[in-house]
Amino acid sequence: MGLQLPHGRPHRLHGRVTLKASITSVDVAGKRVLVREDLNVPISKGTITDESRIRAAVPTLLHLAQRGAVVIVMSHLGRPTGVEPELSLRPVAMRLSRVLDREVHFAEDCVGEPARTAVGKLQNGEVLLLENVRFHPEEEANDPDFAHRLASLGELYVNDAFAASHRAHASVVGVAAYLPAFAGELMEAELTALHQALDNPRRPMLAVVGGAKVSTKVGVLRNLLNKVDALIIGGAMANTFFKARGYPTGSGLVEETALDAAREVAEKAGRKLLLPVDLVCARRMEPGQPLRIMEADAVEAGWMALDIGPKSVALFSERLRGAGAIVWNGPMGVAEIRDFSDGTKAIAEAIANSGAYSLVGGGDTVAAIDLLGLTGRFSHVSTGGGATLEYLEGKELPGIAILKEA
Ligand code: 3PG
Repeated sequence: MGLQLPHGRPHRLHGRVTLKASITSVDVAGKRVLVREDLNVPISKGTITDESRIRAAVPTLLHLAQRGAVVIVMSHLGRPTGVEPELSLRPVAMRLSRVLDREVHFAEDCVGEPARTAVGKLQNGEVLLLENVRFHPEEEANDPDFAHRLASLGELYVNDAFAASHRAHASVVGVAAYLPAFAGELMEAELTALHQALDNPRRPMLAVVGGAKVSTKVGVLRNLLNKVDALIIGGAMANTFFKARGYPTGSGLVEETALDAAREVAEKAGRKLLLPVDLVCARRMEPGQPLRIMEADAVEAGWMALDIGPKSVALFSERLRGAGAIVWNGPMGVAEIRDFSDGTKAIAEAIANSGAYSLVGGGDTVAAIDLLGLTGRFSHVSTGGGATLEYLEGKELPGIAILKEA
């Protein structure tokens, strides 16, 4: 049986991604469908500052409601220890209602009497959001009894929370022991995109990896090296590669404990590895500092690299132009400070204009493209942060492993 892609073309996934049974092929009319979404959105002073995860949940929830299901939504928000009122999902329910353009009911607790009563009142086609599942420590402990209490609210389980699927928690994994588990539409879209970029890419396939630390991405680098034709590295992590080569790095951020890892990656990569050749440097990581462009092997004492320089932009852009598929994770410099964001912006433009299949993942990368106004220019922007990184590392995500195979 073929997986129904969002654009309706039947498709079979090969390789490490196995075909998951989709909820779109199940008759859900009159059924209580328990859906795990990742509605873990940033909230500042009570206001949701980025609703993209809420919008990403819409296809699954809307289609279930339109097909006459009773839709019961679970999510976490933040990392509470017990009940923390400021991490209530109530404001998210209100925003979800606006985005879905239909009423979203809210239950004060995700289990017990409040949840059962709220579910009992729902008509077919109605949507309910349960309170933050992490208000119960049993959620993160994947406690079987808690998972059973959640599961007892529904008849079918849908995991649509790709971004939380690296967590073996009760609402992600545990419930599947008690209910038939299907993939939601966002989950399918994420897996299809990752598959297209990683397992079956048009060649040449390039990866662009940036960000601060080698240590948090060494697994990603190792795994990507088995797949890519070229690996471009930027951001502060490039400093660690420079130091490993014996270049002076001034007062730039170097991860001393990751020098061996950088050496190992560089050795394995050989000619596939492209590092910046010049750097935008300042004395301090602050706006309004005097800037100088320095060669990558000649950063002066007291200066730190904070962005890639124009020659690096030209070099990387040239390679990106001919790519068939590009995976991008991590900014090229301190993109949140305008003075150090040109490199990230230029590389983002080069990826968007390359004509390649482009997949962008990881929280800091998505924040950077948002800030630079480039959202919507890529083939797929993953909702996952940690989950996308683990996927790029080649790990099996527990929330995906439990899904029924098609
Ligand atoms: C995320 O934001 O990456 C997910 O929602 C998972 O959140 P967590 O890191 O708190 O488990």
